[in-house]
Amino acid sequence: MKRVAILISGGGSNMVALARSMTGDHPARPVLVLSNVPGAGGLARATEMGIATAVVDHRPFGRDRAAFEAEVRTALRAAEPDIICLAGFMRVLTSDFVKDWQGRMLNIHPSLLPKYKGLHTHARALEAGDGEHGCTVHEVTADLDDGPILGQARLAVRPGDTPDRLASRVLPLEHELYPAVLRRFAGGDRTPIFLDQATSASSEPS
Ligand code: GRF
Repeated sequence: MKRVAILISGGGSNMVALARSMTGDHPARPVLVLSNVPGAGGLARATEMGIATAVVDHRPFGRDRAAFEAEVRTALRAAEPDIICLAGFMRVLTSDFVKDWQGRMLNIHPSLLPKYKGLHTHARALEAGDGEHGCTVHEVTADLDDGPILGQARLAVRPGDTPDRLASRVLPLEHELYPAVLRRFAGGDRTPIFLDQATSASSEPS
């Protein structure tokens, strides 16, 4: 049984989707939810689900990323995860940390990578006039939002979409894609998964 640690910074909706999926014959179980933000909403949700939590507040460390990560390593060592899932985790990890977890650390990013690495992905897709948009699960490497793609879910951009509207339509795709990729990855299969949201507007709540 693979042990999965999930790193969050906020509400943790992706963490909840991942944790809920790890039941029955799923080859993995959540063993820790760690946040860099004390009081992040996802911490309470993890506790409600009976998952151990940890907080390593990044603020006292200032720009000393290595010192922050040393505390993260200590918290992780206690849980002994086989896999790390970054899920709404908003800190950039150093190449040293990534190197230790390369091949065992996943992230979800709200764009169709390699498009729109970094932030404000929905606004950038709209500004570019893209006809479709979505989310990507990838292996984490030293280069931000750049590792091997393990899955993508895409949807049609609608006229009148705003960044918030678009984000709210992409998020449910994330909750479908990330668990599907984690299940396959935990089973040792890195074959990418591609999901396509029905493009007909009628099938989706407005
Ligand atoms: C989501 O948009 C996700 O794509 C990004 O962080 C946002 C919040 O995620 N990585 P969550 O609700 O905290 O899982």
